[in-house]
Amino acid sequence: MFHVEHSHQECRESLQRHGSITLPRSKKQIPRRGDSDRRHLWEGTIVKNIEELNVNVFELFSKDWALLTAGSIGSYNAMTIGWGQLGTLWNKNVVTFFVKPVRFTHGFMDADEYFTVSFYPKEYQRDLTILGSKSGRDGDKIALTRLTPQAAEHGVTFAQARLTLICKKIYRHDMELAGIPSGAAEIYYAKEAPHTIYIGEVTGFVEN
Ligand SMILES: Cc1cc2nc3c(=O)[nH]c(=O)nc-3n(C[C@H](O)[C@H](O)[C@H](O)COP(=O)(O)O)c2cc1C
Repeated sequence: MFHVEHSHQECRESLQRHGSITLPRSKKQIPRRGDSDRRHLWEGTIVKNIEELNVNVFELFSKDWALLTAGSIGSYNAMTIGWGQLGTLWNKNVVTFFVKPVRFTHGFMDADEYFTVSFYPKEYQRDLTILGSKSGRDGDKIALTRLTPQAAEHGVTFAQARLTLICKKIYRHDMELAGIPSGAAEIYYAKEAPHTIYIGEVTGFVEN
């Protein structure tokens, strides 16, 4: 649950400054339907509704790696993810991805209700490689990168992200080896337990 820190007037002014919506000139004009709930402000950041997201969902995970970050600004962990999907489930807009139980991030994912999935310009690929090869269990791997952690409306993201999805965990399920094709099992699960599937409702997103 988030709390509203700004007055209605502050929200109107800030949204107008960012040129994001056209507000009615007089009270007689009728506002466009849905304007009021398409976006809101959190700590000076515009949080948009998923309906405004304009991306190629097939390229989002396959071409750009992402960071999965779980926890709160006082205690969190981030890891690189390469597999994921955006879609619909139970009439909610959701993101689905897969985390092996051996990852330090897995414990944070199970403990927390919210998490973020964030995407970066190509120049940060080196930093995502670090977060995808070192474990937070062994030390402060964020300090090895150029990324700057910052609180999101829920959870944590990084200042360099071009897109951050704010997500509420709605489902988790441990993959069962018996149902996995033998070819994939040999490649991915010969030494480690299969991934846990996490599904999160995308409650909002932030673009930089
Ligand atoms: C490009 C790339 C994609 C990755 N995708 C995943 C993934 O989807 N799921 C997963 O469990 N691990 C994935 N990993 C591995 C984790 O990011 C890596 O094991 C990381 O060090 C775990 O960090 P942690 O122990 O701090 O959680 C990926 C690594 C890279 C480099």
